[in-house]
Amino acid sequence: MSSGHLYDTIGTTYTLTRRTDPRIARQIWAALGEARTVLNVGAGTGSYEPPALEVTAVEPSAVMRAQRPAGAAPCVEGSAEDLPFEDRSFDAAMAFATIDHWGDPIAGLREMRRVARRVVVFTCDARAADLFWLNRDYLPEFAGLWADRPSLSELAGAIGARIEPVLVPWDCADGFYHAFWRRPEAYLDAQVRGGMSIWARVGPEAERRVVDTLRDDLASGRWADRNRDLSGLDAAELGLRLLIA
Ligand SMILES: C[S@@+](CC[C@H](N)C(=O)[O-])C[C@H]1O[C@@H](n2cnc3c(N)ncnc32)[C@H](O)[C@@H]1O
Repeated sequence: MSSGHLYDTIGTTYTLTRRTDPRIARQIWAALGEARTVLNVGAGTGSYEPPALEVTAVEPSAVMRAQRPAGAAPCVEGSAEDLPFEDRSFDAAMAFATIDHWGDPIAGLREMRRVARRVVVFTCDARAADLFWLNRDYLPEFAGLWADRPSLSELAGAIGARIEPVLVPWDCADGFYHAFWRRPEAYLDAQVRGGMSIWARVGPEAERRVVDTLRDDLASGRWADRNRDLSGLDAAELGLRLLIA
């Protein structure tokens, strides 16, 4: 099953928990530089599309395209690896939380490079997985999911990108996997987990184990004991990165 089709299955409740976080958006929009025209690749329901710029979106999943709000930028069917646009059609191309779903991420990055002068990609560095307690203490499978994928530095090297850290605010509005690092109870909520593709990847058995163990550790105070250093932090470095080329 291609990942576009994966979102036809897991994407039906996406907008319940996934939306633009304004602080992360500011960082992405700054990275777009002076762009006036922007292509959003793997655009989903339209999060992080800069409202002041002329945006075109491309997205393979019909279920995701159908959830774009009225008035959202026009969205065409297509995949990163074969963008249906001429060379240099856009000032910038952006991709948020989608590259890890692409069948061939290097080909997709090269396509972004082909159609745009500036490329901005938000993703995570699998080698930094243990910065996040959820991976370190509950889901050690996380890093292994990326074992046969290009590393962050290989991705960056493919398009000559620099790498910029993205801190996750403690009250991040976008419910992606790392968003609830200071609100651990959120991971007990099936609706919250439903907005995170990771659980479909690791499967129901691992998901159940994580939820059961985390619930026990929250009740016993073990989670709080292990994570005392988080309570005073407003934003955390969890290995999330922008590639900017
Ligand atoms: C986690 S969602 C992110 C959506 C949106 N960028 C956002 O920030 O809300 C991942 C998206 O990548 C899309 N996707 C999967 N494979 C893709 C591919 N090969 N090319 C482009 N997009 C793809 C999925 O259909 C899904 O909409």
